[in-house]
Amino acid sequence: MRPSAFATASAASAPRADAASVPAMPAPSPATYSDATDVPPHASATGSTQACASCHQQERAFTDGRKVAVGATGQLAATNAMSLTNVAYNVSFGWSTPDIRSLEDQMRQPMLNDHPVEMGLKGREQQVLASLTADASWRSAFTAAFPEASGQFELDHLIKAIAAFERTLICGHSAFDEYVFNGKHNALTPRAKRGMALFYSDRLGCSTCHSGFNFSGAWADAQDTPAEPTFANNGIGTAATRVPTLRNVALTAPYMHDGRLSTLEAVLDHYQQAGPPLRRFTLTGAEAEEIISFLQSLTDPTFTAEFDGERTHPVSR
Ligand code: HEC
Ligand code: HEC
Repeated sequence: MRPSAFATASAASAPRADAASVPAMPAPSPATYSDATDVPPHASATGSTQACASCHQQERAFTDGRKVAVGATGQLAATNAMSLTNVAYNVSFGWSTPDIRSLEDQMRQPMLNDHPVEMGLKGREQQVLASLTADASWRSAFTAAFPEASGQFELDHLIKAIAAFERTLICGHSAFDEYVFNGKHNALTPRAKRGMALFYSDRLGCSTCHSGFNFSGAWADAQDTPAEPTFANNGIGTAATRVPTLRNVALTAPYMHDGRLSTLEAVLDHYQQAGPPLRRFTLTGAEAEEIISFLQSLTDPTFTAEFDGERTHPVSR
């Protein structure tokens, strides 16, 4: 994966001026990271064999294709790696952690946790920063991004830089967006249009949970309306889980917090068997295909394309 961990994230401006569906984002970290986008890609940027991108691969909308994630020491995580699609708008972060409220707080988990180890950086923070800033281009990028640090970089700087990058991972150019927000009537196939009607129907009730521009219930944006994250029990586990986005969902198999379902067909089978309190319904084969076409129309092809200079600056306009 190409991207540097840096991006120009100048405060709460609109993410991509041309993505009509996506609201202006909540204010990111107060610092402005400028001129830091030329940093070369660095697979082992964190000094460990495990980069964020080991588990969050761009071509899979920043997931890893595994049932549950595997950490730097080979330990299995308890859960499926989440997509980073539009994470800037999350109210909370993680499948079951409503109290984690910022990207910066979230990041301490994979970096530092030891049950299970993900990146295994705990106790090695200084070493990681030293190896990063030994690279002249990283050093100059850090210096440009954090002039106030006077060359004394801390883990927080790395965290802020990566969070700024995460805030550029905007999905708003799917066929669905073209159809709904840009008035392109032919952007969706007739089949996907029928699937969309089913998705929003009372009969299925998908949108009672997967609501809003991100299909994940409540979100945080520049309006900063205080919101609680949307958690629900969809019959997969015993506890309520955060309602995940369905944007780019065709790229993020396997599904659910424990990765138990391998395909979208299996997801629809699950919902037909779940029963109350979820809606009881049975789909014909044709209807299931229609819903899957609709879910596929939520893929943003620009999201997985190699980012060009523009793409790394979506929040800077
Ligand atoms: C070992 C694999 C692994 C690595 C490495 C990893 N993650 Fe994750 N990531 C996961 C898993 C698993 C989850 C879901 C955690 C849970 O159960 O809530 C997750 C969740 C997230 C979320 C929450 C998304 C949401 O919608 O709530 C963000 C953001 C995130 N990771 C960013 C990062 C960043 C940034 C890094 C590098 C500093 C990183 N991850 C490294 C596996 C990984
Ligand atoms: C009661 C709320 C609720 C309803 C209704 C609901 N979902 Fe979900 N959905 C969730 C939750 C919560 C999860 C994550 C559950 C977990 O991982 O334990 C989820 C997960 C999913 C996933 C997997 C996403 C991923 O990244 O793993 C898909 C796909 C999905 N739902 C589609 C649908 C469709 C299609 C419908 C309508 C037939 C529907 N959902 C109805 C709450 C709901």
